[in-house]
Amino acid sequence: MGEETLVAAAGPSARAPVGQPRRAAQPIRQVSTDQHDRAATDIGELDRVLGGGLVPGSVVLLGGEPGAGKSTLLLQAADAFAAGGRTVLYMSAEESPGQVRLRAQRLGALSDRVLLAGDAEVPAILALVQSHAPDVLIVDSIQTVRIPEVSGSAGSVTQVRESAAAIVAAAKEHGIATVLVGHVTKDGQLAGPRVLEHLVDAVCDIEGDRHHALRLLRATKNRFGPVGEVGCFEMTGKGLVGVEDAGRLFMGDTPPGTTGVAVTITLEGRRPLACEVQALVAKSVLTNPRRVASGLDAQRLNLLVAVLESRSDVTVANCDVYASSVGGVRLTEPAVDLALCTAIASARRDVPVLPGRIVLGEVGLAGELRLVAQTQRRLAEAARLGFTSAVVPAAYDGPAHGLQLHRARVLSGALDLALSMVSLVGV
Ligand SMILES: Nc1ncnc2c1ncn2[C@@H]1O[C@H](COP(=O)(O)OP(=O)(O)OP(=O)(O)O)[C@@H](O)[C@H]1O
Ligand SMILES: [Mg+2]
Repeated sequence: MGEETLVAAAGPSARAPVGQPRRAAQPIRQVSTDQHDRAATDIGELDRVLGGGLVPGSVVLLGGEPGAGKSTLLLQAADAFAAGGRTVLYMSAEESPGQVRLRAQRLGALSDRVLLAGDAEVPAILALVQSHAPDVLIVDSIQTVRIPEVSGSAGSVTQVRESAAAIVAAAKEHGIATVLVGHVTKDGQLAGPRVLEHLVDAVCDIEGDRHHALRLLRATKNRFGPVGEVGCFEMTGKGLVGVEDAGRLFMGDTPPGTTGVAVTITLEGRRPLACEVQALVAKSVLTNPRRVASGLDAQRLNLLVAVLESRSDVTVANCDVYASSVGGVRLTEPAVDLALCTAIASARRDVPVLPGRIVLGEVGLAGELRLVAQTQRRLAEAARLGFTSAVVPAAYDGPAHGLQLHRARVLSGALDLALSMVSLVGV
């Protein structure tokens, strides 16, 4: 059978037929760019992530867990586009148009230029696109629309892929800026085939703990702008409100002198944010003491506990260790290592970190303290926020930005500096 396939592939019938191009190829300088037509939303935090707004003919996939605020953000964006004189077609296949209208009423986003329809079949959506010729198309969500000729129910891999392909083709053909809403599975992956991510021009995610009002919008892929940019929002009754100065958003209200708390500056995209890490160390009655991480990487917590055990005098072998970030933010970069170790050591020794002090550094398996990327920008942000001193890796030789710097080569030294009650003379 393999032989048969080989013969067929080599035969003349396998050659692709020569057709007519839709447009002649052009010298690259003569190809028009649509950059000037970018549709800014005037929602600063959203535009920041999109790289200045939506590009006509581009397709954005917006993902997020249920209740993250995808529909809310898009309704607000639709209203902003409408205010800018653009027509928006909002296809709500998930909720009835009546429900969407109620939400729009709550958000104060009732504009005549926002057209609402509840069709879930792709041919009907494309027909509406043709008759209304909108500037912006929103499909909420790609998992609930289907093509009748394609087998499988809405949300199946084939349906999601085929529906998305048909909508993307229409968007490109008519130059419509399009946003597809996508669901996110429990492990944080966009549901549906990965091919969806290749089909679209940009992939954005809204993340945030549903018990907290804070939401982070992040671009993980963007053909028209930077990736790694982060938008900060607060969920309110009036919708998502951008938080421009996110400086202290992820700091708790712990009174000075509280033990088990350390502050570091994390970089979300290009944005430095001051984040608090909290730890609780309690005597365990279990044979295998618990290690529980919330908002932090559980594997990293296990590893750092092992490093603390063997490379410093902080012993937590018979203790349960709970560690958490504040405000529902997910801290995964290694720059958070020292803050996590400091919080655990502070809880164990019952000594607080001196107020106004941040700690910054990656911890290696040998207990060494490593420099983290863009330390200088992080320190500048710490100074701007009013912090006065910082424990940094010895390898840092950049400016202090007015902070008192305490340099440490190894973890144990860094912990002693971080938890020393006296303000040592820095460099
Ligand atoms: N009256 C209100 N005041 C404040 N927040 C509200 C109010 N009503 C709804 N919310 C917030 O809006 C969130 C729901 O937002 P939205 O429906 O936009 O999410 P979604 O991402 O579209 O979810 P789904 O995937 O289920 O469609 C709720 O989780 C809640 O936090
Ligand atoms: Mg929704």
